[in-house]
Amino acid sequence: METTEIAFIGAGNMATSLIGGLITDNYPPQKIWASNIREEKLEILASNYHINTTTDNKEAANQAKIVVLCVKPQVLAEVSQELADIVQLRQSLVISISAGVPTDVLSKWLGNNVPIVRCMPNPPALVGAAATGLYANKLVDRQQKDIAEHLLRAVGITEWLDTEEQMDVITALSGSGPAYFFLMIETLQREAEGLGLSPDVAKLFSIQTALGAAKLLLESGTDVEILRERVTSPGGTTEAAINLLERDNFCNIVANAMKAADERAREIAELFRGN
Ligand SMILES: NC(=O)c1ccc[n+]([C@@H]2O[C@H](COP(=O)([O-])OP(=O)(O)OC[C@H]3O[C@@H](n4cnc5c(N)ncnc54)[C@H](OP(=O)(O)O)[C@@H]3O)[C@@H](O)[C@H]2O)c1
Repeated sequence: METTEIAFIGAGNMATSLIGGLITDNYPPQKIWASNIREEKLEILASNYHINTTTDNKEAANQAKIVVLCVKPQVLAEVSQELADIVQLRQSLVISISAGVPTDVLSKWLGNNVPIVRCMPNPPALVGAAATGLYANKLVDRQQKDIAEHLLRAVGITEWLDTEEQMDVITALSGSGPAYFFLMIETLQREAEGLGLSPDVAKLFSIQTALGAAKLLLESGTDVEILRERVTSPGGTTEAAINLLERDNFCNIVANAMKAADERAREIAELFRGN
């Protein structure tokens, strides 16, 4: 891929992961800029990756053809409006990783003629295992889509969405999903302790079981339903547990939880629209 100047606005956890991913991918550090409201995080980034840093968002955006907005949603309006003139003048691609903020709202802040890619990465981006949904507005060209995809691929898998409504489903699935698995792991851990394991063993075995199940599923290439049936021997312990989960409506509970998250994502988008 052709390398272009990239500016990260907001140098927190996600920006640090994305920058780390790019550097591992041999992206030239002299073509990366990061800005942050405070100096400390910039000093760490400069010393770890030898990239350019500044506390002036405009200075960073002025160097780049790609501006990645990595601030929290609460300050996104202010930061976008601050950069609107620059991104319009430089015809930069803007990539937003801010959860919940739709492209029409970003266009209102940045200008109607600005190409925008909205991304929804998830917390495993911090360890290179994200699942990121991407959506581009009509002004984004093929080359810009490739750049956005390359950037997010540095921290995990990516998928382009056909409609922006699908971003709400991605939010309910992979965005909120890690917390669903954390709750399951917490519950397994607590119960294993209650049944007599030491806290350390209960914790380690709960986590390893989740990791092992995901790894087996990914690497075997076998359908999840078939794998589940294979590990559920008739009359065995797994069957006893699964029967109880089904009797107590586990699947319905998960389905309703997903629907609640999807609905909340739509409500949040409306809040940003001022409706
Ligand atoms: N973390 C995740 O797993 C995750 C997943 C999906 C999407 N996201 C999205 O990614 C974005 C960033 O999340 P994060 O976890 O990286 O947050 P974060 O660690 O808090 O990073 C945000 C950074 O922005 C800086 N900042 C605040 N106001 C600023 C301003 N006016 N100008 C420049 N920098 C400013 C903050 O500086 P100080 O801290 O020094 O004040 C902080 O370093 C959010 O919009 C979030 O919705 C995050």
